[in-house]
Amino acid sequence: MRIGILTGGGDCPGLNAVIRAVVTRSHEKGSEVIGFMEGWRGPIENKTMPLALDDTYNLLQQGGTILKTSRTNPYKVEGGPQKIVENLKANKLDALIAVGGEDTCGVAFKLNKDFGLNIVCVPKTIDNDLDATDFTFGFDTAVSIVTECIDRLHTTAESHDRVLVCEVMGRHAGWIACYGGIAGGAHFIMVPEKATALKDIVDVVNKRKKQGHRYSIIVVAEGAKLQDEEVLKSQEVDAFGHVILGGIGERLSKLIEKETGCETRAVVLGHIQRGGSPTAFDRVLATRFGVAAAELVHSNKFGRMVALNGSQIVDVPIEAGVGKLKTLDMSLYNKVAEVFFG
Ligand code: F6P
Repeated sequence: MRIGILTGGGDCPGLNAVIRAVVTRSHEKGSEVIGFMEGWRGPIENKTMPLALDDTYNLLQQGGTILKTSRTNPYKVEGGPQKIVENLKANKLDALIAVGGEDTCGVAFKLNKDFGLNIVCVPKTIDNDLDATDFTFGFDTAVSIVTECIDRLHTTAESHDRVLVCEVMGRHAGWIACYGGIAGGAHFIMVPEKATALKDIVDVVNKRKKQGHRYSIIVVAEGAKLQDEEVLKSQEVDAFGHVILGGIGERLSKLIEKETGCETRAVVLGHIQRGGSPTAFDRVLATRFGVAAAELVHSNKFGRMVALNGSQIVDVPIEAGVGKLKTLDMSLYNKVAEVFFG
């Protein structure tokens, strides 16, 4: 067989591990793999790179993606989907593996439905908000980075008797904020799933002050809402219609300082959460996903997405992964995270 592979959307640690696994398993089966560059831009503009077994050495531990990535939406490019069909034919491909989040897999779903393309998806996102899989790879690495950063914030915040507001990624889902906040011992966590009143945070900071703890750590997801107001960086939207978020940490820190009189600083972790090498958990998950995707292709099972169900790798219709976002399990927030607020 001849198989194409692309990585789309925001990069995430573990993408290279998937590429390595797909290439290795496919080679064992006597198949050839070629890479499309820069997400969906690759098959639209026929930008490819060969992926021989030799090209995968040392890929397992490398962050980012050797195929590069973009947020190109073929359905927003004149003749985009048709060009993809033509270029898959021109490269004599039997199948395409798309590694991505809701947007990349959403396009894969449409291409499979509209043109009958032989596509298999591998779910990735540090946000962990793809449905039908318990976890996406990249999330564990992001949470580990956030945890280490919060640990560091504790010592500087305590030395200066400051409140530190730590803004983490998560547009619509508070998985990173909640897991990172629990692991890092945050005194309050704000997630997009629950609008927070400023008073709730101020009460926590003041209560801690009364107890003699003159510093606090507040973790906030970039998409969290303060009394129902969403903080947008600009009115611009990307090719998939997502507004550019950010700024909640800074805004919150000014309000906390005003209301509590405590010196407050905001720290935005931003893309640090997506950089560097994957954790062992993400390397293993990405490898299992890559092997499973290659198996699906060789069994001619298309229109499917590999997924983690408990401890097992399964496959589900792509639609099941992209139909709706998997928002935070609020019982984790209400029954665990909140126990440690204050
Ligand atoms: O989709 C993953 C993600 O990291 C989000 O958490 C974040 O809002 C977004 O990507 C940032 O996108 P960009 O890399 O385009 O700034």
